[in-house]
Parts: sequence; C-alpha cells; structure tokens
Amino acid sequence: MTTTTPWWRDAVVYQVYPRSFADSNGDGEGDLQGLRSRLPYLADLGVDALWLTPFYTSPLADGGYDVADYRDVDPRFGTLADFDALVADAHRLGLRLIVDIVPNHTSSAHPWFQEALAGYGRERYLFREGDAPPNDWQSNFGGPAWTRVEDGSWYLHLYTPAQPDLNWRHPEVRKEFEHILRFWLDRGVDGFRIDVAAGLFKHPGLADLGEGGTHAVGSPMYGRPEVHQIYRDWRAILDSYPDERMAVGEVWTESPDDLALYVRPDELHQAFQFHLLLAPWSARAFRETVETCLASPSGKAPTWVLSNHDVIRHSSRYGPAERSRSALMFILALPGSAYLYQGEELGLPEVFDLPDAARQDPIFFQGKGKGRDGCRVPLPWSGTAAPYGFGAGEPWLPQPDSWAPLTVQAQSADPESMLAFYRRALALRRRLRGTLPVDVEWLETSSPDVLSFRRGPLTCTVNFGDEPVPFDGAVLLAAGDVAAGKIQGGGAVWLTV
Ligand code: GLC
Repeated sequence: MTTTTPWWRDAVVYQVYPRSFADSNGDGEGDLQGLRSRLPYLADLGVDALWLTPFYTSPLADGGYDVADYRDVDPRFGTLADFDALVADAHRLGLRLIVDIVPNHTSSAHPWFQEALAGYGRERYLFREGDAPPNDWQSNFGGPAWTRVEDGSWYLHLYTPAQPDLNWRHPEVRKEFEHILRFWLDRGVDGFRIDVAAGLFKHPGLADLGEGGTHAVGSPMYGRPEVHQIYRDWRAILDSYPDERMAVGEVWTESPDDLALYVRPDELHQAFQFHLLLAPWSARAFRETVETCLASPSGKAPTWVLSNHDVIRHSSRYGPAERSRSALMFILALPGSAYLYQGEELGLPEVFDLPDAARQDPIFFQGKGKGRDGCRVPLPWSGTAAPYGFGAGEPWLPQPDSWAPLTVQAQSADPESMLAFYRRALALRRRLRGTLPVDVEWLETSSPDVLSFRRGPLTCTVNFGDEPVPFDGAVLLAAGDVAAGKIQGGGAVWLTV
C-alpha cells in the first residue's frame, strides 16, 4: 500500500500581504495584478503555496481584517476577475493558494451591521442593553471591548470598534460562512487561514474575565469548546472538494496541547505554532520549543513561523544576518510546514522609525504602542530609491532610503545575498523532500549553545553562541563562513551523512 503525504504537511507557504507586495496601477498600494505579475518570482523562489491576507471589500480600519463584503475584492486590490486570473496563473506555476477568512467579526460597514445600527437583525452580533459596559472585557488593541450606539445599547468588539464581533450562536451566521467558504472553494482556492480561530464563541453569559488571562483557552472570551462543531462542519465542506483543500487556524496559546484541540482529523488540518516566533535567540529556547511542539498531539502537523504581519520582523529580533539564515535552515530541516512572511527572503528589517503621521495600524491609534506598520512596509523590487519598483505611485507607507541594496534586483545579482541563500535553501529542501523521516534525532554537541539534529540523511547544526565551533561532514548548505571547518557564531550547517 502506498501512502501519499498531503501537500500542506511539509509545504513552504509564503504569506503575501497584498497591499505591500506590488502595485500595478500606481496608486501606492499593492494589488492582485501586481501580485500576479510577480508570481514567477515566487515560483522561482521555490515556495509551494501562497497565503493571501485579506483583499476583500473593506474600509481597511484594520488592514482588511474588517471585511464589508466577503464575496468581493476591494476595488483598491482589483476585481474578482483579477482574482480568478491569479488563481489560474498560480496553479499553472505549481503554486497553491490559500486565502484568509475572518469569521470572528465583520467590518462595521458590513450590511449586517448597518442593519443592526438601524435596529434590525442585532442578534447576529453581540448587543446588550444597560447603563454600563456589560462586562470587564478589554479590546485586544486597547480600550474597552464595548461601544455604545445611539439608542444606548452596547456591542462587543474584541478588536477595534469598526470590527463588531459576530454572534456564532446564530444559525444565519453559521450558514453565511459556509456559503462564503464554498464561494472561494468554487473559485479554486486550496484552503483557508482562519483569523482569530479560537475567538468565535464567547461565554454564553459573557462572564467577567476577572484576573484571568484573556487568551487562555477556555476563558470567557477565547477558546470556547463550542467552536469545534463549526470546524467539524467546515472540514466536511473542505473534504467534499477534490485535491485536499486545507485550513490552518490562527490560535494564540501558550500550550501546544491546546492547539491539538483544533488540529484533529475531523477539524482543522493545522494551527499555527507561534512558539518559535516568541522564543528568544537561544539554543535552549529553540530546542525546548521544538521538543514541546513535536511531543504534543498538534505536533503531528507542525507549522513553523518566524515572522508574520503582526510581529516585529525576525531579522530585527535576531540581529546579525547569519542568525536569520540559520533560523531558516533550522525550520526547513524540521518536519512540518514552514510559513514565510513576504520580505524575509530579502532580509528586510523592521522599520522602527516610521513617522507617526504615516502610521495606519489601529493599534497605534488605540494607544497600545507603535503598532505593526513597521513590518508592512512595501517591498523593494528594483532601482536605487523609493518606490524601488514597487509601483509608480508613492507607497502607502514610506520605504527607508537605505533599502537600495535590499531590492530583489540587487540581491538577484549577488550570489551571497539573503535572497540567493533562500533560493538555495528552498531548492535543497525540495530535493530532500520525501527522503527525510518524520522523527527528529537530537545529537550530542560540544557546547550548550549548539543544537544539532538529524533526520535520515540530513543533519542540521546551529551555533547559537558567539564562539566558532568545529564540525565534521560534507556541507550541503551553510550560514556564515565555514571555510575553516568551523561554524561561526550565529551560523549553521546542513550536512549529509
Ligand atoms: C489576527 C490578524 C491581525 C488582525 C486581527 C483582527 O490576529 O492576524 O492582523 O488585526 O486578527 O482581525
């Protein structure tokens, strides 16, 4: 009997933030045609699939995670015809395409919420009467999670007031999302990334949180057990389509065991393991994280993430470029899929010094820090000055003057660049696919700062310390200079036996 590995289990998935990827019409914002024109770049990079963050009709109060129409493309990103052309081109190039789905909340511009404001159909959201906010919940972006409407009632929003939370106990909400899933599956998408996947249901009595953590699974506002029936229903829909359509959930939780509740044969295929993303650059932290993730039942479908559109880019978290290269080698050598975030292949740093006047993230406006714009700055493609080939117009967030050496064009001409390194690493990973056993065998090392593990013919060794350490074996790939038979501080090697 032959068993085939499902495509997503060890896929390298590249996250596209469409607004910042490539702009085809000169309005300073990326769009689907811009992305489409750059698909050959992504195929050439060597990734297996793309995940697109929201491109749906939206006022963009939260970068598109405030959806006003789940079945259309926002005009600034293009049209449904552009989307269809994108799917067709991606598939022709051998790239799968998954899209974001945002079920926890709609935009306040969604027709349902507009109706609710007019006093009709409020039961689709979480409205409550009273003189004071119904409970002690705070929005994840700062400020109270309740906003009062003209007639004095309150509605719940775990994010901005422009993102009212849906009432998932209402049958119409469930039906509507089943239709939305089918709408995009019928257009050929290979799966979904589910936003705030653990948030859909709230405690039936909307109990106070008290001192408890908001994100603890099973708290009154997060990780309620009722959500699992939704994912069972969705799984049945996904399974009714050919070619293994999949779903990956965004679930923030400290315990990988909690993730396992979502990753079940009849629920989601994967849930993001954000644990490495939160780990400091340290051998101990990386090893413990991987061991805990793999030992948990969710570790049967591991996902490794170093950066995304919500966090500080890892090149800035880790510092020296060798570390970013080594971290990539580390996750690509592990079993499971790797989710990359656009621009990490260029070694883009976080842009910390954006002028406040340019910032657009609601986190900034709701007073919870500087926000996430610094990892969303439009990509540099070519040329020596902004907009670096991103498009003809002025980019919606300013690009640093120092990015000329980081463009795709500049790095393509340099075999030592980060981009060239990503291409080599991804090509090797493809070549090794299918030859690597699932189990990770940890090897003894000469220093607690060095991690080494083997999977069949491949050994991956990372030097998290500052001092060079010797290695022995035939080098397939190296981060940092290994000419002297040593892995430099922050460097790594892939060896074959
Ligand atoms: C998720 C998204 C984030 C968004 C939030 C609200 O965490 O990744 O960007 O702001 O959900 O939809």
